[in-house]
Amino acid sequence: MCVFQIAIDGPAGAGKSTIAKKIAEKLNFIYIDTGAMYRALTYEVLERKIAIDNIQEIIHIAKGCNIAFKDNDIFINNYKVNDEIRSRRVNENVSYIAKIPEIRNMLVCLQKKIAFNSNVVMDGRDIGTKVLPNANLKIFLTASVEERALRRYNEIKCNNSNVDIESIRSEIIKRDRMDESREYSPLKKAINAVTIDTTGLTIKEVVENILVIVKNQRANN
Ligand code: C5P
Repeated sequence: MCVFQIAIDGPAGAGKSTIAKKIAEKLNFIYIDTGAMYRALTYEVLERKIAIDNIQEIIHIAKGCNIAFKDNDIFINNYKVNDEIRSRRVNENVSYIAKIPEIRNMLVCLQKKIAFNSNVVMDGRDIGTKVLPNANLKIFLTASVEERALRRYNEIKCNNSNVDIESIRSEIIKRDRMDESREYSPLKKAINAVTIDTTGLTIKEVVENILVIVKNQRANN
């Protein structure tokens, strides 16, 4: 079967999920938010009150749990955790869990399985480099840290007036640093990825931009 696979990587808060979801809708492709998988596992570890440096126990939990998507909802052990995985404590801890090689191997394996032989848009940190190294199109989505913090702030502010932009900015910088500097499968632009800097662009503009690239690429395939 001839499939078309799109890998979208980039730093925290660059709008990857929003953009990837829209592209998938427009193309009628499956959308896979790999960050949600690392977040779901982090949520489970925190709920079970396991110390974030207890690597053996975290691996044990990961081996025994079931992470799955139904439509665009994420489930861990059949429990829907769409909202829970977006909490501040998950944001602050997820990169510690995502740097464990055994965890990455398990989740990358699952991600490859979900994507196998399907038209997909998958977003994350290592999609173009590790999960879908043969993707038909690789995008590296980025934006200035100020803009990324502002976008997150505007998102969160609607439900929570108790947020300040400076702490969001520091959290983003810290998470990027950890994701870029981890030894195993770090956040990195794939050599053949197209970089799109979304600073100052609307979601609609970015989506249209990518759809043009997809159209050209498909015509050449
Ligand atoms: O994309 P999102 O911000 O939801 O990802 C949350 C975290 O999950 C990232 O900061 C990173 O530590 C981890 N992650 C990863 N590899 C991926 C997707 C996410 O390490 N493919």
